[in-house]
Amino acid sequence: MENEKDIYILAIESSCDDTSAAVMLADKVLSNVTASQAVHEQYGGVVPELASRAHELNIVPVVDAALKRAGVEKTQLSAIAFTRGPGLMGSLLVGVSFAKGLAASLGIPMIEVNHLQGHILAHFIKEEGVEHKSPEFPFLCLMVSGGNSQIVKVDSYKEMQIVGQTIDDAAGEAMDKCAKVMGLGYPGGPIIDRLARKGDPKAYTFSKPHIPGLDYSFSGLKTSFLYTLRKFVVDEPNYVETHLEDLAASFEATVVDILMEKLYKATKQLGIKRVALSGGVSANTALRQAFHDYAKRYGWEIFIPKFGFTTDNAAMIGLVGYYKFLDKDFCAMNMPAFSRTVI
Ligand code: KG4
Repeated sequence: MENEKDIYILAIESSCDDTSAAVMLADKVLSNVTASQAVHEQYGGVVPELASRAHELNIVPVVDAALKRAGVEKTQLSAIAFTRGPGLMGSLLVGVSFAKGLAASLGIPMIEVNHLQGHILAHFIKEEGVEHKSPEFPFLCLMVSGGNSQIVKVDSYKEMQIVGQTIDDAAGEAMDKCAKVMGLGYPGGPIIDRLARKGDPKAYTFSKPHIPGLDYSFSGLKTSFLYTLRKFVVDEPNYVETHLEDLAASFEATVVDILMEKLYKATKQLGIKRVALSGGVSANTALRQAFHDYAKRYGWEIFIPKFGFTTDNAAMIGLVGYYKFLDKDFCAMNMPAFSRTVI
């Protein structure tokens, strides 16, 4: 096998509505290019058919840009890593098929990567000239995105175990749906974040779930939020528009409380104080602040990814790809995509 330091991997991520390509040199990211799809904003959510079509338009220019930005020729590539799932099937198929075609034409191996594993291992991506500290194993990872809310015990690059997860909606999904109810745009999470900075997190009390163990639930909170709005608009039709900041702050604070209470319980149960945050919702200001507060109060060692590696990106897929490359964990040409799974 070539020297570990000379392993160039092209990674492709297309599981939802971001077309992303990255070039990695071992565990170091050389380029990470992402094309987002504004087309979904007008529908208040991702429309799968439109997402697939946009991936078809974006994939060639995005891969081309990633190679150019990295200063790497296709012929230098050692392997192609791609997101196999979970995600939207039509979106995944664009990336998977493209990876297969390019790998076949170059005569290099393919590496299939689980999208969730990518989010979790994003903490190990290195960048030129950037001081970086990765978590030691084992650590707990709170993985919060638009499709998942999980607490994962990470024992090594390969061994991970879900110790708690949502039994209904994901945290990001709840953010997006409640933003939609308030007539805000999509994705709602960043909008709620922005509004919440100017609001009172104690202005309203929403009901919290009582789920045993380490699992989450967000559907009850969503209903509680909706009923609160309905109650106020009966007497004051413009109530929501005039109280957006307090509503956003109180809702966000409840989501963060729910996430942190179970995470704290997990650290106590498993006796692990190394705690990482990942997934799109990890960009949330209040959640990041809560991580710092818990670290101070309970002596946690925390790991929060930089913004560019929180949302869907190909660098995290390339990082997993690199470790699989070292294990010669390649996949066959007939490897299918999958839409749902556990790690
Ligand atoms: O990981 P991600 O980019 O995509 C997947 O779901 O795989 O996560 C997207 C989710 C959306 O629900 C979005 O509203 C949420 O992350 N999000 C945020 C913030 N930025 C993105 N939620 C709260 N605060 C934010 N700043």
